[in-house]
Amino acid sequence: MTLIERDKMLVWHPYSDNELYGTPIPVVSAKGSYLFDENGQKYIDAVSSWWTSIHGHSHPHIAQKVSEQIRKLDHVIFSGFTHESAVLLAEKLIKRLPLNQKKIFYSDNGSTAVEVALKMAFQYWHNRGQVRTKVIAFKNAYHGDTFGAMSVSGRGIFTKPFQDLLFDVVYVDVPTPGKEMQVVLELKSLLSNTHDQVACFIFEPLVQGTAGMVMYEPEVLNELLLICKENCVLTIADEVMTGFGRTGKFFACDHLSIQPDLFCLSKGLTGGTMAMGVTSCTQQIFDTFDGAASNSFFHGHSYTANPIACSAGIASLELFDTKNTFIDIALISEMHKNFVSEIVNYSTVKQARSRGTILAIELITGKDTSYFNEMRNKSYHFFINKGILMRPLGNIIYVLPPYCISADDLNYIYKTIKEFLESI
Ligand SMILES: Cc1ncc(COP(=O)(O)O)c(C=O)c1O
Repeated sequence: MTLIERDKMLVWHPYSDNELYGTPIPVVSAKGSYLFDENGQKYIDAVSSWWTSIHGHSHPHIAQKVSEQIRKLDHVIFSGFTHESAVLLAEKLIKRLPLNQKKIFYSDNGSTAVEVALKMAFQYWHNRGQVRTKVIAFKNAYHGDTFGAMSVSGRGIFTKPFQDLLFDVVYVDVPTPGKEMQVVLELKSLLSNTHDQVACFIFEPLVQGTAGMVMYEPEVLNELLLICKENCVLTIADEVMTGFGRTGKFFACDHLSIQPDLFCLSKGLTGGTMAMGVTSCTQQIFDTFDGAASNSFFHGHSYTANPIACSAGIASLELFDTKNTFIDIALISEMHKNFVSEIVNYSTVKQARSRGTILAIELITGKDTSYFNEMRNKSYHFFINKGILMRPLGNIIYVLPPYCISADDLNYIYKTIKEFLESI
């Protein structure tokens, strides 16, 4: 039997509706920005394998550090024990995070990083003897697939079967250009009536990924954060997608002057090699969990702070220190910007936008613009047949490459996008 046949018999893939992804491509190796299948076909990984692979695949420095770690200490329970890699990674992250971030809590992925942040926020109020259970989130947000993360995400096709099981969230519009004032007023009026019931406001800073790379400006986010602070509402930045250089700065929140209380990190955290999540918080939040045993944070996973994952995280952060990663990021950002101005007037383009290394093109379609829009199937096949892995979000195609991508490969992607725009 072929790998595909064996796979089909036993394996259940995520987000893989049969119509589009029914027959998986059997990948045998990956290097830099390329994936290679079993027939030797090469694909440019234009989406960094679900936004994770920031330095490119199979990076020798990360591979070496991981291999050293697994020979020395593979795993140890993280309650009552600690180890060098967990502490070193925490030290390195704290140096990169805004100054108000003081504690690092490890978990397994982006969704658990969000769950942990939400539980910290709810329990923060509980430990202070207050009942605050309301959450404010942006419409169409995506924060993950576990129940808390689904609850604070927008309601739609992903959450429909679970609708009655999710806790209620108050949504505000995303302050995209032109809507800023409306959203500021919306939040102000919401909090003027209910601020003492609201535990937290959670948001994807500057770019809402799964919603279709929807972008908004730092100035308005600053204003929203200020309103939350004035009303003693905790703020949670979900930097799972935007962290580690994606938006042109180390964190998207580095574009801001007001800093959130909690951060959720994953994806690029280990350079796209190991599953790991981090939730960071302020000293004030941490201190609320100190003292009586009943104030403790009773949350943990078997693989919390797994040393191998931590070593990948350390190695990935070292690459930011030792390689010209931010020169690569600046180059991609500049090329994206230029490309946006080249295609913005195409008759098939509704809007083209970029922030840092993220480029998004919203296509004009006669039909609705849902996730299952026919453009999604058309564009996926078009690009894969040209050796480019793209994963369109409905009628929005986007490029979010590993930072090591060459200018030639990026230009090839742009040329192919133009061909696609001219073909529809
Ligand atoms: C902003 C954001 N938060 C959370 C998640 C969930 O992360 P994971 O898929 O690792 O659970 C994602 C995943 O795409 C995301 O984009």
